[in-house]
Amino acid sequence: MVRRVAECPPLGSHDQAVVVDVLRATSAMAAATYHGVARIWPVPEVEDAHRVRKSDPTWLLVGERGNRRPDGFDRGNSPLEWAATDNGASAAWTTTNGTRALFGAAGAGRLAAAAFVNRARAARWAEQAPDHRLLLIPAGENGAESEEDWLCCGAIVEALQQPRVSAEAGEAREAFLAVRERLAAAIRETEHGQALIAQGLAADVEWSSRLDVMAVLAVRIHDDPLWLGPA
Ligand code: MLT
Repeated sequence: MVRRVAECPPLGSHDQAVVVDVLRATSAMAAATYHGVARIWPVPEVEDAHRVRKSDPTWLLVGERGNRRPDGFDRGNSPLEWAATDNGASAAWTTTNGTRALFGAAGAGRLAAAAFVNRARAARWAEQAPDHRLLLIPAGENGAESEEDWLCCGAIVEALQQPRVSAEAGEAREAFLAVRERLAAAIRETEHGQALIAQGLAADVEWSSRLDVMAVLAVRIHDDPLWLGPA
């Protein structure tokens, strides 16, 4: 039930996948959705985002490379960059790991991007399709596991009402429960948390460490190209 991107089996129409990249892609997507962004178009490369805008100048360019906003982009990958004035906006989005994990999961019949801030909403969404196999996909970093994504998968498992989960999902849930009371500190201490703090992005880490503060979720609304929008 919790499968790293590299280990993900081929996904089909009877699967539902929840991709998790707490620091920071799926937290920032939750923030964008909260503020009314209508369409998120994950794209592989910076050049792809520029191409989207060339064909339609209304798209915002969003994302990061090396945790920084690429040249010519409107927004970085920070959840703090979104505001009510973005209501109805469209965002072409590229990040090092998070958007790539979304592509990896694109074969699933149902697809969502979730983080700590909206994990209960993600659990309720998954429960809407009990006939679908549920896969929680921690995006990780450059093929390696990220502690914060693993913990967030555990948090989603904890919020599910179904009592029977895989052994791996049970382990993730136990890992989350062990740090639940000190979640913000645990996320600060992760490798990616430390890297972002060293780059002056501590506020993003704090923001992304809050549990269940948003009842919004970005889910797939269009297949080809892959677009996400509010559930
Ligand atoms: C990623 O997708 O690699 C991350 O979201 C990077 C970041 O922290 O901005």
